[in-house]
Amino acid sequence: MKKQIRFNGFTLNSVAPHSPGLWRHPEDQGQRHGDLDYWTDMARLLEKGKFDAVFLADVLGIYDVYGDSPDAAIEHAVQVPLHNTLLQISAMAAVTEHIGFAPTYSATYTEPYKLARDFSTLDHLTKGRVAWNIVTSYLKSEAVNLGLGDQIEHDKRYDRADEYMDVVYKLWEHSWEEDAVEANRETGVYSNPDKVHPINHKGDYFSVPGSHLVEPSPQRTPVLFQAGAFEKGKAFAAKHAEALFTTLASDLDELKAFTKEIRERAVDAGREADDIKIFPGIVPIVGRTEEEAQEKYEELLSYVSYEGTAAMLSGHTGVDFSKYDPDQYVEDVTTNASHGFLKKYSSSTTRKWTVREAVLHHGLGIGATKVVGTPEQIADALEAMANEGDADGFNIIQAASPVTFEDFIEHVVPVLQARGSYRTEYEASTLRENLFGAGRVRTSNNHPSKKSVGLYGVNV
Ligand SMILES: Cc1cc2nc3c(=O)[nH]c(=O)nc-3n(C[C@H](O)[C@H](O)[C@H](O)COP(=O)(O)O)c2cc1C
Repeated sequence: MKKQIRFNGFTLNSVAPHSPGLWRHPEDQGQRHGDLDYWTDMARLLEKGKFDAVFLADVLGIYDVYGDSPDAAIEHAVQVPLHNTLLQISAMAAVTEHIGFAPTYSATYTEPYKLARDFSTLDHLTKGRVAWNIVTSYLKSEAVNLGLGDQIEHDKRYDRADEYMDVVYKLWEHSWEEDAVEANRETGVYSNPDKVHPINHKGDYFSVPGSHLVEPSPQRTPVLFQAGAFEKGKAFAAKHAEALFTTLASDLDELKAFTKEIRERAVDAGREADDIKIFPGIVPIVGRTEEEAQEKYEELLSYVSYEGTAAMLSGHTGVDFSKYDPDQYVEDVTTNASHGFLKKYSSSTTRKWTVREAVLHHGLGIGATKVVGTPEQIADALEAMANEGDADGFNIIQAASPVTFEDFIEHVVPVLQARGSYRTEYEASTLRENLFGAGRVRTSNNHPSKKSVGLYGVNV
């Protein structure tokens, strides 16, 4: 059987999620993101395309690094207005049966006890179709508005997140025994207190003495998504992530090197090489002919807002790009924001980027690879990235919403299905099973969620 390719649809509860300026495109519908039917339509569409998940990015602040002001972000709708990321999921789940939902939640700005409850609730409501995209957050404006004064330093955010994971694993996996809920009308026992254990967590960053608030959900631990790119982030991903996203690789060699490194790190962390599904981001631009696709690409590019994207890139990297000449090369600057995003443009192994080039590239799909061509050409490129580059699938990032998804599902998905490289039916109904195979509803035994403490041991 041919290697099976997988897709997630990447979006965010805002106007032009990852392509600033594209809200002006005549076909773009991002302004409907406040309407529930925008989301239910999208869930149905992606399920029709047999995607694994709707992947919802999120931040908790405004991009205000550029010119030391939020004005450019506000003017160009750069991830603002930005609505809550969890609240539309139940509605999307109600109109679908198989597709998963992967909301982003910050491990830096949400208490683990509360996050564990939110995700267990969603896992119940979706019948086991939820994932958590773990981020440690990069915007100073998030820290400031949440009352922290300043950001916690990049590497420390990951150390803290590591303990955070220990807490949520204890709550999800080790607090409630499988048969704790008896719901016995005769004895009057709903849940058996002997089978609901306080986790007694006391660490460097968190203190959570009590038990989880929610009884075991279908997957217990949601499928864990992550996008670490710098040293600490990659180590974190190799230990915890079940799906990893990247926009770093610009060609097959970089992709090969990236996938090899991640899989080796996973093995070093005591896991199997394929326990992490790796999803590079791509922006597919489909045409009936190569020329038509190229014209479409140029047209989409003409809608990118330079200033809006510069504001987004400044937020992603922590570097104020208003201070740079557009023709200058992007310098290798270490900042406290998202190291990985800066590295892409400051130390690429394949080319040097000027500020202008980096901004324009970042403006269509946060720097993801643009795959431009006929459906067959796009299918060829994806198969090469999957087979030679060892990617498990792709995170489809939109130029305009939802036409990027619509074009891809209408034209590229059938080609891949005809070639036998893409599913025609879902394998199961929980997200983890669709990703890893029928029967694997829960995290595997070599995953730290299972190992961090003795299952149901009292002294957890
Ligand atoms: C596809 C993709 C999606 C991401 N989504 C988010 C997000 O929604 N919220 C967020 O705070 N960070 C997001 N990030 C940033 C990552 O969590 C991470 O911080 C970044 O890739 C840099 O890696 P590092 O933290 O190892 O430096 C995303 C990154 C990528 C590549």
